[in-house]
Amino acid sequence: MKNYHLAVFPADGIGPEVIAASQQVLRQLEQLHGGLRFETREFGWGSAHYEHTGAMMPADGLQQLERGGFDGLLMGPVGSPAIPDHVTLWGLLLPIRQGFDQYVNLRPMRQLDGVASPLRNAGQHPIDMVCVRENSEGEYAGVGGRVHRSQPQEVAVQSIVFTRTGTERVMRFAFDYARQQSRRLVTNVTKSNSMQHNMVFWDDVFRAVAADYPTQATDQQLVDSMTARMVSQPETVDVFVASNLFGDILTDLGAALTGSLGLAPSANLNPERRYPSLFQAIHGSAFGLVGQNVANPIASIWSVQMMLEFLGETELAARLMQAIESVLREQRVRTRDLGGSHSTTDMTAAVCQALAAGS
Ligand code: IPM
Ligand code: MN
Repeated sequence: MKNYHLAVFPADGIGPEVIAASQQVLRQLEQLHGGLRFETREFGWGSAHYEHTGAMMPADGLQQLERGGFDGLLMGPVGSPAIPDHVTLWGLLLPIRQGFDQYVNLRPMRQLDGVASPLRNAGQHPIDMVCVRENSEGEYAGVGGRVHRSQPQEVAVQSIVFTRTGTERVMRFAFDYARQQSRRLVTNVTKSNSMQHNMVFWDDVFRAVAADYPTQATDQQLVDSMTARMVSQPETVDVFVASNLFGDILTDLGAALTGSLGLAPSANLNPERRYPSLFQAIHGSAFGLVGQNVANPIASIWSVQMMLEFLGETELAARLMQAIESVLREQRVRTRDLGGSHSTTDMTAAVCQALAAGS
């Protein structure tokens, strides 16, 4: 019997609902495989924890997770209307990304059969892009401060930090990923026309890393025109590597182009596996939908699929992807974001049935 130890964080808003869906899928995967167990330990960290204790997680939260020896972390969305977002995010998700050196945020954006894109002619060129987002520094380094509060001379500084190590390793990951997945193009997303220090450096590092992959086709796109390219010619976009903030913005756009934010998964990876990696839907906590059983659980379930791949459970990962694809293709069950009126639990049951049926 192979045991995987998972830490599960239902977190905020619709988190508990989509994480319950993911856990149900884990149970179904166990039944399918027989020789595999996912032992889950649930952590009630998040905004409710903050309301009770004044902190999103205990002071030794990261050590607890490290001691737990987890193979993966499954997290729901984080954020609550009652607490400023920078407090919730810097209290839980961002410290985990940084503290566990999850320097890659891998975000596939693929238009699946049966899901309509808002793009008029998307059908001719189904969208299939992958963002390799830098996830530990850059615009999210957390360096800066505010002085002379509320005075006319108040100053706010948010420093962008690019290190050679941090830049090189995420680019190397993008090239290795493209090679493993036989992707045709790696695009460097930049803004070196206006940002003459950090982004010119970023381009230099990209060129240097690219030189180690001479057969890989590459190109370069300024981030502003990248948004236009993703809309006008999405078929020309394949793998792209972007800084933390640019990747954040472009992946919401990409997810919307594939039909719904309710579908898009992400993997916050520590590729060296020195620390556990974190798998999470890219959508927010959607407080407007809480408790109604209407959220689309696919983004969270697809994040489980990315976890399976990272754990090396390739066959199971492929089966789960097939199940997700067949449910969407058939369109018998559609949640509200996909134009239907089915519930979170309907969608989850459909994925579990498709898994069991091997379709
Ligand atoms: C995401 C989210 C986070 C980010 C927020 C919640 C801090 O938008 O995972 O894309 O900006 O990285
Ligand atoms: Mn985001």
